[in-house]
Amino acid sequence: MDITKFVVSGRAQAFGDNAVYRGQLSRRLLKSRKTLGIATRNRGKYQKKDEVTAEQIRENPEYVRLLLLTSERAWAHAMSMRTAHMADAKGIAGRTRSHIISRIEKAAHTAEHLVSILSDSEDSGAKSTDILEAFAYAGMMRGAANFEKQSWEKCLKNYSVSHAIYSALKTSSADGETYKDLLSEIIDPSIQFAAYQLKTPRTVPVHIIARKAFPTSNSFLVDEINERDPSVLRQEDAESKQEAGVEDVPKTLAWRSREVRIEDAAIALAWKATLAAKEALTSKVASSGSIVPKELAGAYDDILTATQDAVDATKQALDELRGENVPQTDPRMQSLQITRTAVNFEMISWRVGRNRVLTGPHDGALEDYAELSKRELKKRAKAKDENKPREMKLKQKLNKLKERVALYDGALQNLEEAKALPGVPADEELTQRLEATEKYFTALKALSIARSHALTGNRRNALALLAHAHTLVQTSTPILTSPTTPNSPLNIQVSPTDLSFLESLLDGQVQRFRALVHIEKKLEENPPKSRVHPSVPLIDRLHEWPAEGVDLENLVEWPPKLPLIPGKPIFLDVAWNYIDYPGRRTEEVEEKKEEEEKGEAAKPAPAPQKRGWFGFGR
Ligand SMILES: *[C@@H]1O[C@H](CO)[C@@H](O)[C@H](O)[C@H]1NC(C)=O
Repeated sequence: MDITKFVVSGRAQAFGDNAVYRGQLSRRLLKSRKTLGIATRNRGKYQKKDEVTAEQIRENPEYVRLLLLTSERAWAHAMSMRTAHMADAKGIAGRTRSHIISRIEKAAHTAEHLVSILSDSEDSGAKSTDILEAFAYAGMMRGAANFEKQSWEKCLKNYSVSHAIYSALKTSSADGETYKDLLSEIIDPSIQFAAYQLKTPRTVPVHIIARKAFPTSNSFLVDEINERDPSVLRQEDAESKQEAGVEDVPKTLAWRSREVRIEDAAIALAWKATLAAKEALTSKVASSGSIVPKELAGAYDDILTATQDAVDATKQALDELRGENVPQTDPRMQSLQITRTAVNFEMISWRVGRNRVLTGPHDGALEDYAELSKRELKKRAKAKDENKPREMKLKQKLNKLKERVALYDGALQNLEEAKALPGVPADEELTQRLEATEKYFTALKALSIARSHALTGNRRNALALLAHAHTLVQTSTPILTSPTTPNSPLNIQVSPTDLSFLESLLDGQVQRFRALVHIEKKLEENPPKSRVHPSVPLIDRLHEWPAEGVDLENLVEWPPKLPLIPGKPIFLDVAWNYIDYPGRRTEEVEEKKEEEEKGEAAKPAPAPQKRGWFGFGR
C-alpha cells in the first residue's frame, strides 16, 4: 500500500507550500471519488453514512488513498491557515485557532480510522507493514493536533509511536531515506519541543525521550517493532547507551579560565566530536614529519566540520531560548552565550591554522616558491634531479606570492571576526593578543609583497615594506610570549619561536635591501664609465675594478695569438762571438791579411770596429 511513500511524494510535489498542496489534494480527491464511483453531491451526508470499511479496502485499495487524501487535505488546510496568520499581531488566537485545531483533528480522526480498519487484517487484507505505517501516520497527525492544543504529554506520546515505527522501518526496509527525512524534519524537532515544554533537560537525547514516552501497552506495535529492529525499544540497551553517552560527553567547556556548563545535548555531542578531531589532528601532525601542505590542510577538514557543528548547535539552542522569551539574565542564557564565544573562537582558530599550513613552512616566511604537490614529488623522484629544482618563471613566483597574500588576508579576516565575538572586546588581554597576532600576519603579508617588488626590480618599495614589517613584529614580540607545544597542529596561537624566526629573517632582509638600495643609489649618482676596452679580456684588466660588471664571456683570449715579447739584448751580444754572420767573416779575413802584410812588427791591435753595444765582451 506504501502509505508513507504516498504521503511523502504527494507533499513533495507542493514544494512545501501548503496552500498549493491543498489545491492539488482537492483535485486528486475528486478523481479518486470518481474512480470509486462515489457521489460527491452530498458531502455532509457521505461522512456520516458511508465510512470506509475494511471490506471495501480489501476490494479496492483506492479506498486507502481516499482516506489518506482526505486526511492530508484537512491537515494542509490547517497548515496553510497557520502560515497565513503567522504574522498576525496577536499571534494565532480565537476563532482562527479553533478552526485550525478542528481541521487537524479531522485529519487525525481520518488517520485513526484508517488504522482501525486496516488493523482488522482478516477483512482488510493489510500486511503488518501497512498497519505499522498507518499507525505511524496517525501518530504524526494526532501528535500535530495535540501540539496545536499544547497538550504536550499526549503530543509526545503520539510522536513517540511514529518515532519508534519509522526508526524500525528505517533499518529494516530498503529505502530508509524517506523515514530518515521524516524523523529529522518533522518528528525529532516536535519531540524536542514538546519535551522542552515538559521541562526535560536538554542533555537527554531525542531517542531516549521517545523511547520513554512510547506506549508499551500496545503489544501489536511492540512485537512488530521488535521484529524489525529490536534495538529501538530495548530498555537496558537504550539506557546503558544513554549512560555511556552521558559519561563520555563533556559536561563543561573551558573558556578563558572559566568553566561553563554545556546546556544542550547537541552542543555536548558536537564538542565531543571537536575534541576527538583535535586529538586525531594532533597525532597526525606528530606522526608525519614531512607532510605536503595541501595534504595537511586536508587533515583540518574534520575539525573544521566538527567546530562548525558545535557553532550551529549553539546558535540553535540560543535561538530556541530566545524564541521562548527566556531573559538574558537567565543562567542558561549566560552560559550559552559564553559557549557560543568559545566554540566560535575554536572554529576561527582552526581556520587560521589551516591557512597557516597552506602558506608553507614558517608561515611562508621563507623565499620558497616550490609548490610540492604529491604528483610533482613523484615526478621529481623519477627524474632524479632532486638536487636541482626547476627554476620557476617570474610569473609563477609572483602568483605564488599573491596566493600567500590571499591566505594571510583570510587569516586577518578571521582574526577580525574573533575580535568581534561577544565578550571578547571587553577582554583586554585577549584583544591585545589578537591584535599582536594580527600584526604578525600583516608583517608576513608585507614580506610577501616586498618580495614581489624585489622580483620586479623595485628594491626601494621592498625596503620600505620590510622595514614596516620589522617594526610590526617587534611590537608584537613582547605580547605573544606563551609558547605552544612543539609539533602541535597550527592554530591561531603564534609561538615566540615563530615570532623570533620572522624577526631575525626580517632583520636580515632589511639589512640586505638597505645595502642593495644604497648601491643602487650610488650607481645612479655616478654611473660607471662605459666599458673602455670591451674587447680586452679580463685577465689583462685585473688591476681595474669592474664597476660595470664582468664579461664572463671574455676572460682570456683563446686560442692565444703569437705576440711579440721584448728580450734582453745583452744575451744576443754574448752570442755574437759564436755566430758566423756572413759579413763579419770576410772582414776578419781581410784584417788578418793586412796584419801579415805589415810584417812581423807587433803593433797594438787597432780598436776593433765591431764591439758590443756596451764596449766590452771581446
Ligand atoms: C495519541 O496519544 C493519546 C494519549 O496517549 C492516545 O490515547 C492515542 O491513542 C494516541 N493516538 C495515536 C494515533 O497514537
